[in-house]
Amino acid sequence: MNVLLLGGGGREHAMAWKLSESSMLRNLHIAPGNGGMHDLGTMTDVDAMDFPAVERYVRKHAIDLIVVGSEAPLVAGIADYFEASGKTNVAVVGPKKEGAMLEGSKDFAKAFMHRHNIPTARYESFNSEQLAEAITALDTFNPPYVIKADGLAGGKGVIITESKQEACDTLESMLKGGAFKEAGKRVVIEEFLAGQEVSMFVVTDGKSYHILPSAKDYKRIGEGDTGPNTGGMGAISPVPYLSEEFQQKALNQIIIPTIKGLTKDEIPYHGFVFFGLMKVGSDPYVIEYNCRMGDPETEVVLPRIKSDLLHLFESLCSGLLSEYDLEIDDRAASTVVMASDGYPGAYETNFEIKGAEDEPNWEGVVFHAGTKVSRRKLYTKGGRVLAVTGRGATVEDALKRSYAKVEKIKFEGAYFRKDIGADVLDLA
Ligand code: AMP
Ligand code: GLY
Repeated sequence: MNVLLLGGGGREHAMAWKLSESSMLRNLHIAPGNGGMHDLGTMTDVDAMDFPAVERYVRKHAIDLIVVGSEAPLVAGIADYFEASGKTNVAVVGPKKEGAMLEGSKDFAKAFMHRHNIPTARYESFNSEQLAEAITALDTFNPPYVIKADGLAGGKGVIITESKQEACDTLESMLKGGAFKEAGKRVVIEEFLAGQEVSMFVVTDGKSYHILPSAKDYKRIGEGDTGPNTGGMGAISPVPYLSEEFQQKALNQIIIPTIKGLTKDEIPYHGFVFFGLMKVGSDPYVIEYNCRMGDPETEVVLPRIKSDLLHLFESLCSGLLSEYDLEIDDRAASTVVMASDGYPGAYETNFEIKGAEDEPNWEGVVFHAGTKVSRRKLYTKGGRVLAVTGRGATVEDALKRSYAKVEKIKFEGAYFRKDIGADVLDLA
């Protein structure tokens, strides 16, 4: 098969790395890719949001399958576009617009969960004409207040504050002040859930599903989970505090009702569902849905899958998902993100990176995110630069391998958290 992979982060590098093992793969094309992906496929700068341009590329290169890495093209309707165009036979891994609304609108997702009795924090939702009602409603919630912009906000649209004044100001800035633009014209206020976060992932065709390894990511920039939110500074898989009992509850109370809910609501779905969960006591609650894989979670999830990823995608698109045999590796994986100094705020790029090559006797893979190659040298090109994945018998072994490699990688202003996984090692 000829595959076009859309995206250029660590998640897509991990996907390209895994796809390239497949015996079913003929040519892999990646748009736009990054400095770590040159040996894995043909890179192109076609814009994933420009669907007619993607279509021209698909025709020219006889692409059979498009794998969509991030949410933006899905929410904008790339899967609908290729189904409706009917002119190509290309299959798309990723839901159509309506299914992608599980991520594209918090209000839609909350109403969906409510309708299908899926455990989630109590909520209320308000539009830009309802600022006064929203402020009054704050009194029915206990602090800390959780306020979310309804639409896509690149992971920045959630404000959690103890201060009622800040909560009121946040509501006003979203509903009236244009914060988060269209995404903030509607807000969701919800109950704060105290617990431990964990991410679960399925691949589903709306009927059958396979559960991928679970993961925990470390979202804050600072050690001890302090400072601003980032895309993710590291991840581990498996998550030691996820008992069999908890996973069974998540399956029965959340995963199966979500898939059945899609069917009941007549929402077709072919792709990943990412369940951002909170473990409160011993019970799972949904914090958010995403319609794609996580980054950096993918950099620990895919190294734990033994079976052929392209075969999984092919089964998904041809109605044979239930016959696919998903084999998971018992070994653990961890990834430590190396970022540019200043991230998630302003940062400089174009610093040479040394020591990022894979090593023959090292159990791990250096996935690239914000990198580029120029005259055979590697340079920084983004906030998150590398995701250094280690593997081992336990999470602790995996982490030792990640950190041993991180110590050898040098670029000016390199920043990484030294405490990825430290919390779960204490718990285990
Ligand atoms: P989201 O973009 O919805 O994943 O939210 C970003 C982060 O905010 C989550 O990863 C949680 O750490 C936190 N968060 C979101 N909703 C809640 C909630 N209801 N209670 C506690 N923390 C939350
Ligand atoms: N790492 C969180 C996400 O991909 O949304």
